[in-house]
Amino acid sequence: MIIKPMVRSNICINSHPAGCAKAVRNQIAYVKKQFSGKKPDGSPRVALVIGCSTGYGLASRIAAAFGYGAATVGVSFEKPASASKPGTPGWYNNLCFDSEAQSAGLYSKTLNIDAFSTEAKTAVIQAVKETAKAAGLPARIDLVVYSLASPVRTDPVTGVMYKSVIKPTGKPYSGKTFDMATGKLSDISVEPASGEETASTIKVMGGEDWELWIDALDGAGLLSPVCRTVAYTYIGPELSWGIYKNGTIGRAKEDLERAAGAINKKFACDSATFADDSAKCSAKRGAKHAWVSVNKALVTRASAVIPIIPLYISCLFKVMKAKGLHEGCIEQITRLFRERLYTPEAASDPKKTLVDAEGRIRIDDFEMRDDVQQATAALLGTITEENIMTEADAAGFKHDFLEAHGFDVAGVDYEIDVAPDTI
Ligand SMILES: NC(=O)c1ccc[n+]([C@@H]2O[C@H](COP(=O)([O-])OP(=O)(O)OC[C@H]3O[C@@H](n4cnc5c(N)ncnc54)[C@H](O)[C@@H]3O)[C@@H](O)[C@H]2O)c1
Repeated sequence: MIIKPMVRSNICINSHPAGCAKAVRNQIAYVKKQFSGKKPDGSPRVALVIGCSTGYGLASRIAAAFGYGAATVGVSFEKPASASKPGTPGWYNNLCFDSEAQSAGLYSKTLNIDAFSTEAKTAVIQAVKETAKAAGLPARIDLVVYSLASPVRTDPVTGVMYKSVIKPTGKPYSGKTFDMATGKLSDISVEPASGEETASTIKVMGGEDWELWIDALDGAGLLSPVCRTVAYTYIGPELSWGIYKNGTIGRAKEDLERAAGAINKKFACDSATFADDSAKCSAKRGAKHAWVSVNKALVTRASAVIPIIPLYISCLFKVMKAKGLHEGCIEQITRLFRERLYTPEAASDPKKTLVDAEGRIRIDDFEMRDDVQQATAALLGTITEENIMTEADAAGFKHDFLEAHGFDVAGVDYEIDVAPDTI
């Protein structure tokens, strides 16, 4: 079968097996180069990545495995391919990751399961035990990455299904959006979310499920004394706040930050003797810690459908590339691990991890630099449908989007007949 991209309204409904595999191998090659040399004491030996198949989660798994040699368990929810129909990109990415890990002598186990369910937690606990045993390691997780981006969540207790929406809260949002398939810029206006829609979005994209994961893993005795856990968020510039930071997703991300605090409180009080977050309790903390990491705006399957973001990203990339500051998922996560979570100092003491005043890791620091933001805002003000391809980096946006689906990957022959159910 010859597979060509089918894109409409910034959603691509198919993917290319060989292209996905090549893109994963490119990330692995990048990590191997960046992480060569001595690993800091305290770097992860067993890692769990929830949302492991694409975007930031995939990059995290690759960095943990190929950078630090960690045995990894990955969870994601992808559609398998059949003999006649391609699967989702993450399905190919997982196949490629597992095959490359095996060739490199790394232990890995991937579960295709709804991460929000209780069954997923039970299955992962078993998989961690088996994977660690196979790797000759204690069944103790050193790193839990929470990187889900999902439109729905079924509450594991009540069975109620919640849907997330990308809407403003309080007042309507108007802004421009860019359709990469047609090259068209259009004005888009979104009515504010109802209270129920906001609450549902918090249920799906907030921190409740992250807490349930940590509770389940802790309850099974699987968290190592130096376990770190990180969940990803975005803040971005003020021009996007109407739809993002102050919108439904932003509310959910506030809840993610609440969850980080709640998890840290539990870590601090893991001895039943200490019932609150008192000084005694902090002294007992040990080296376990939870962070929210604020990451850069990047083209992933989740971000391409958020109004204004494609246009903003096209301008941001132009500016950041010109300044030599541009990064993709794998460069961002490499910096997160090497320059924040696992510096020689922070690897043995989480308090030495560089954070902002709210205790968040900022790996969006280059994006949010004043000079970058000013130049991006100035460029945004000049962009029209006529000049978007030449003045902004719409081509870069489109390339990254296609690449996330295995298309437009250098070195892949898209005229060759491929079997859709194998990489
Ligand atoms: N893309 C960006 O610009 C950006 C920037 C900063 C932060 N973030 C955050 O990073 C996180 C990951 O986003 P991304 O852009 O990498 O998304 P993505 O769409 O590339 O990846 C989402 C992952 O979640 C998995 N998933 C979704 N529903 C699931 C379910 N029910 N069960 C199991 N797995 C499920 C998918 O399989 C996939 O592995 C999100 O929290 C997002 O808000 C993204």
